[in-house]
Amino acid sequence: MSVTRRPSAPAALPRHRDCPFDPPGAYAALREEGRASRLAFPDGTVGWLLTRYEDVTRLLADDRFSSDRRRTSSPVHAFPVRRDDRRMLGSFIGMDPPQHTRYRRLLSKWFTARGMRGLRPRIEEIVDDHLAAMERAGPPADLVPSFAQPIPSLVICELLGVPYEDRADFQRWATVLLRLGQDEAEVYAARDALWEYMRELIDTKRYQPDEALLSRLVVGDHGTPGGPGTATAAGLTDEELTGVGLLLLVAGHETTANMLALGTYALLCHPEQSRRVRQRPELAERAVEELLRYLTIVQFGTVRAAREDLEIAGVRVRAGETVVGSIASANRDPARFPDPDTLDVTRDAADQVAFGHGIHQCLGQHLARMEMSAGYPALLRRFPTLRLAVPPDQVPLRHDMLVYGVHRLPVTWDRTAR
Ligand code: HEM
Repeated sequence: MSVTRRPSAPAALPRHRDCPFDPPGAYAALREEGRASRLAFPDGTVGWLLTRYEDVTRLLADDRFSSDRRRTSSPVHAFPVRRDDRRMLGSFIGMDPPQHTRYRRLLSKWFTARGMRGLRPRIEEIVDDHLAAMERAGPPADLVPSFAQPIPSLVICELLGVPYEDRADFQRWATVLLRLGQDEAEVYAARDALWEYMRELIDTKRYQPDEALLSRLVVGDHGTPGGPGTATAAGLTDEELTGVGLLLLVAGHETTANMLALGTYALLCHPEQSRRVRQRPELAERAVEELLRYLTIVQFGTVRAAREDLEIAGVRVRAGETVVGSIASANRDPARFPDPDTLDVTRDAADQVAFGHGIHQCLGQHLARMEMSAGYPALLRRFPTLRLAVPPDQVPLRHDMLVYGVHRLPVTWDRTAR
């Protein structure tokens, strides 16, 4: 096939949604029109957008592309990542091999499917405690603060050894990082505050270690290897470990919280699907994969920079150009998922790419799956009459955040129904 540059004028990343559960409608047209389109970034540069499943997965598995945030343009922020920023240390989501491999090897053993299954009883207990509190308080409730937000937050805090009582602070800073349209100074101030918080916590772990992950990385299983600033048991400096801790803390609760809330909203708007999840426990895992596919909350895609002049998706990409692979669009590609715009919890959606693909595929995916497969069925069973407490079009949507979802989810139920 001949390789051509598409003549179409560069356009900004599609943002307008007609339906709260569907990605912007423009993606369907782009998938039809061709394999790659020119994309205009807020910083004034021009790159490419890939929308088909096959091309997006190929991009994410291709080692000719870099994940280094200092090379890529952001599809949503106009300002660049500071090139000499020490706060990038340890944030391996934005690193390439061999640095990325070093971190991933170190952490993978903590996040295996098997290891996460061991957390199941504690996760179920946390889910039950929150549902019981909701029941005691009675209807109505906002499902975001009473269910979706605290469950992953408490789980990741316990896993890492971060004090849950500090959540108001770190959630506020994380929200600034993830909100669109913030100015550069606000974003960097929030990141500095988060950094200082985690840096102090790492120091504390050195002298007062516990059994949780951060302490194990600092001091290992057999006491402290040295004073502040020295290499930790994991072979990372305190600064690198600070970056790792921050990445896990922010990624660990914002994402799953939004899947729990938006997924519940979608189920409540599709009563036939929620009835299946409520009545057929064996469908829980399938339902989770399907909700991940259908909703794809990482709404602005995965972003890479070409390290060299190359060809992909039928176009020539120059070294340094940024290519965005829309995982939301890939998950709705009819060439991969028949009838992709229908939510069907009985479907086999195991190949969905909501967790990404390739070497950066989500480290916390097994944990997130566990929280969702414990969360949705328990909620629907305890409150069989659960429904929205406002008209569906009045649920406030997170158009303004990097991670899509709902800001609030007002629900109600019949007290006497149990
Ligand atoms: C990476 C989505 C939950 C930690 C990713 C990526 C996606 C994603 C799309 C790939 C980014 C890229 O390729 O550039 C999600 C979704 C979640 C979720 C949809 C919930 C439903 C979690 C949790 C954790 C976590 C609970 C906590 C441990 C990470 C980390 C990476 C990552 C550390 C970087 C992996 C690497 O670069 O090797 N996630 N995530 N995520 N996620 Fe998640």
